[in-house]
Amino acid sequence: MNACLWGGGANGGTRTPDRLITNQTHYQTVLRWPQPSVDNDVHEVNGRDRIEHGQVKEEVAPPQCMDEEPVMQYLSSQGRQRTGDDVIFSWLARYRHAAAAGADAVNGTVGAMLEDNGQLAINATVDAALRQAPAVEFAAYAPLKGLPDYLDLSVTLALGEHRQALEAMGLNHIATATPGGSGALFLAASNFTERNDRVLLRDRHWGPYKGFLRGVGLGWATYPLLPGPSNETTPFFDRAGFETELNALVEHQTKVMVWINDPAHNPTGLSLPPASRLAMLESFMESALRHEHIGHTLVIDAAYHLYAQDPHGWAETLLEVMNQGWPWPENMLVCMALSLSKSHTAYGLRAGALICLHPDEKALTTLRDIMGVTGRETWSAAPRLAQYTFAHLHSKPSTGQAWADERDRLSVMLDDRRTSFVTACNEHGVAINPTHDGFFAWFECNDPVAVAEACAQDHVYLVPLEGGVRIGLCAIPVHQVDRVAKALADSQR
Ligand SMILES: Cc1ncc(COP(=O)(O)O)c(C=O)c1O
Repeated sequence: MNACLWGGGANGGTRTPDRLITNQTHYQTVLRWPQPSVDNDVHEVNGRDRIEHGQVKEEVAPPQCMDEEPVMQYLSSQGRQRTGDDVIFSWLARYRHAAAAGADAVNGTVGAMLEDNGQLAINATVDAALRQAPAVEFAAYAPLKGLPDYLDLSVTLALGEHRQALEAMGLNHIATATPGGSGALFLAASNFTERNDRVLLRDRHWGPYKGFLRGVGLGWATYPLLPGPSNETTPFFDRAGFETELNALVEHQTKVMVWINDPAHNPTGLSLPPASRLAMLESFMESALRHEHIGHTLVIDAAYHLYAQDPHGWAETLLEVMNQGWPWPENMLVCMALSLSKSHTAYGLRAGALICLHPDEKALTTLRDIMGVTGRETWSAAPRLAQYTFAHLHSKPSTGQAWADERDRLSVMLDDRRTSFVTACNEHGVAINPTHDGFFAWFECNDPVAVAEACAQDHVYLVPLEGGVRIGLCAIPVHQVDRVAKALADSQR
């Protein structure tokens, strides 16, 4: 195996002094063992990557000289659990092979916004702002907790037009800059429950959630994504299922945490309406008030919220409960995990923030330090360039507006694709899940792989996940959506 790893190249070997590295591709090939992607929406750059539809994807080739599973005595049991799955990559690869062979193939596998011509959509205002950033903003570290202007921006992006009213009601906040929304989720996973606790998720959720939780010694419990048909008061929210699971956790844990990706849920595109948000918050607050010694943390994963019709709905709901006179339970924390990856088409710049909301300023000051130290001990500081650029861009009305115009253009594109897709599903008799906003739609089914395989027969490439098939509307031009609906209909015959 070693002979294979070293490859016999001129510069091969980990001891190669940097000054001798003249062939970067060779160096990386020698040193880097191909790994299956653990991130469903993986983005990596190295000498062996290819650029596909504007996205860089690593070619994951099976190691040529291995004919059996390696023993790898050095790999820990935690490491062994990180096999993840490369299902999204492998279905993208199938699309790519079909397209390369000349098929008129549809790519519904990607988790990034593509223009109708298949190129990665890039917000031109963001791109221009980045190119004007001073050299020092590229080179310097950011403060450990983030650049103050960026932190202020992140609170505004999270709370929107409700920020002032919430502040006036006495709701305080802190923000910590993180490498993307993933970093924000990691901060929450690391700090708001005890080891071996379970975090409450919906049964359909973004795959990497489990990895974030497992990585810090946590498990998860789930409640159904959708309520039964008799539910009319809280559309798209199974309040009874949520309360049952929450009560079960409260029985056994000293801290409970709920993660909800809303609005514009990945993988379904579902957004909760105001009545359902309110019901969830009320159930959570009631639980916190009933169990005053049990910590309650609600994390709203806002990875796609700026592409939703109601981007700041959760801030509106918080304001509503406060206006109704609910006392904010001391043991309750609400967090928003913000990602600028999609909203600013800056997937690789790793910009995000965790915003923590609570009336007690002193408690928040303590939390600020804890978040900063967690980041320091994990990734050091989050990247500075993105923080500087986004804060600068949004500080001027002209560039702020130009960014919003471009974001609106992409939102309209998503809306057109979704509306056409839902119409086509109705016409072809496909029971598509409720879908409202964001990048994805979802077909719930018992055998997702069989459905995806059947669609691939029609050269429509989708992603089979647990419980259904994800349709990446973010990547499918409007003129192809009818084919997707038809392929799903065919898969059911
Ligand atoms: C539901 C959800 N949450 C969080 C993230 C994290 O985004 P990032 O770390 O790229 O900012 C993603 C990214 O795809 C996502 O789909």
